[in-house]
Amino acid sequence: MTFYRVASLSEVPPNAMKAFTISGREILVANINGNLYAIDNRCSHRKGDLSKGVIDGTTVTCPVHGSKFDLSSGKALSGPKFGPIKLKTSDLNSYKVKVEEGSIMVELPE
Ligand code: FES
Repeated sequence: MTFYRVASLSEVPPNAMKAFTISGREILVANINGNLYAIDNRCSHRKGDLSKGVIDGTTVTCPVHGSKFDLSSGKALSGPKFGPIKLKTSDLNSYKVKVEEGSIMVELPE
């Protein structure tokens, strides 16, 4: 595992999120009240772009079918809903984040 520089801290201001492609992975970095989190950017249901979703606390909702994920752990909190039908979806990977000299660093496999 290696820490990769993802962006400057100013690129992800408080209560915002942004997707980055690092070392071949699409990662969502979220800044929730100054706490930084990184999870896979693509929804585990049908690869919805979570960076275009909605943040509510540490929960991000997929813009495609509404699955919810915990930004702090990558856990799937609820799956997609199609009318009265609720499905399950799997957890996402979450990654360690640190800030070094104003840069957001995310730990990824080499
Ligand atoms: S693609 Fe995200 S809920 Fe379907």
